[in-house]
Amino acid sequence: MRPADAGRRRWLAGAAVLAAWPGQALAATVPARTIPSSGEALPAVGLGSWITFNVGEDASAREACTEVVRAFFAAGGRLIDSSPMYGSSQATIGHALARLGRPPALFSAEKVWIGDARRGAAQMEASRAFWGVPRFDLMQVHNLLAWQEHLPRLLEMKAAGRLRYVGVTTSEGRRHGEIEQILRSQPVDFVQLSYNLLDREAERRLLPLAQERRIAVIVNRPFRQGRLLDSLQRHPLPGWAAEIGCDGWAQVALKFVISHPAVTCVIPATSQVAHLRQNMGAMQGRLPDAALRERMAAEVAAL
Ligand SMILES: NC(=O)c1ccc[n+]([C@@H]2O[C@H](COP(=O)([O-])OP(=O)(O)OC[C@H]3O[C@@H](n4cnc5c(N)ncnc54)[C@H](OP(=O)(O)O)[C@@H]3O)[C@@H](O)[C@H]2O)c1
Repeated sequence: MRPADAGRRRWLAGAAVLAAWPGQALAATVPARTIPSSGEALPAVGLGSWITFNVGEDASAREACTEVVRAFFAAGGRLIDSSPMYGSSQATIGHALARLGRPPALFSAEKVWIGDARRGAAQMEASRAFWGVPRFDLMQVHNLLAWQEHLPRLLEMKAAGRLRYVGVTTSEGRRHGEIEQILRSQPVDFVQLSYNLLDREAERRLLPLAQERRIAVIVNRPFRQGRLLDSLQRHPLPGWAAEIGCDGWAQVALKFVISHPAVTCVIPATSQVAHLRQNMGAMQGRLPDAALRERMAAEVAAL
């Protein structure tokens, strides 16, 4: 089976689950995105895990995270993102996946994050054991740490079928010049960067370049780690939010991100099922057009 067919099959399975999700009408529009290097479909909203899933051995907190992951798959989600930098988050994800019977829709996105590249293979193997997956779908070099050494190994692993995709990450506008050079010169499938209603630096060069080079884009920190929503929630929703089917500021923030044509997937993190459902709801209804996107950003910046 070609990867694109496998992806489509998984996407249809996800849509069927969405239809069966109690209390949730089947989406009028669920804009699946495709990974340019393969044609595989990915839902536009994924799940981050930094801080929210770093709950240690606390059994009740682990179960709460398992419920978030359950709701994520029930809503048609696929991509979960983690890193060895995120404390016990990898173990929390592994626990949830085991409890949920290893959902076949999972698209596992991990990172290698170690300055001594000779220890990269051992770190990735430890991560794989935490998740309990046979291999990762995507391995990213976290914050470009020792990327010159890690990237050749990741590309070899991909060629050998031990990974499906390779990428690099950054956040908060750091090292965009270096990311640009990598996107221009290296055969990466994915780039992960920060982009939201207030942090729009990526629009200038990286998002158009990713589109031109046919590289998938994962967006981190869509809520500025929650601070953006905390400040927006003090204000009433503007009238245009209802026009694009948003039930709150979280969906406004996510629809802004996923309506950029270069964006493949956004990965908000949450520890709460209610928030997870709001976030997945951003895949329903209309997305803003270019004119409304500009208005959204301008009005939010002025608040
Ligand atoms: N360099 C890198 O590779 C890099 C850097 C940063 C982040 N990342 C990845 O990107 C993911 C997302 O970024 P982030 O975790 O920094 O921040 P974020 O997703 O922008 O914000 C997460 C915060 O928003 C809150 N939240 C989520 N949904 C909400 C809702 N519907 N209503 C109200 N509050 C809500 C969460 O609190 P509750 O738990 O209360 O919902 C959490 O505190 C990370 O988890 C990580 O996987 C990667």
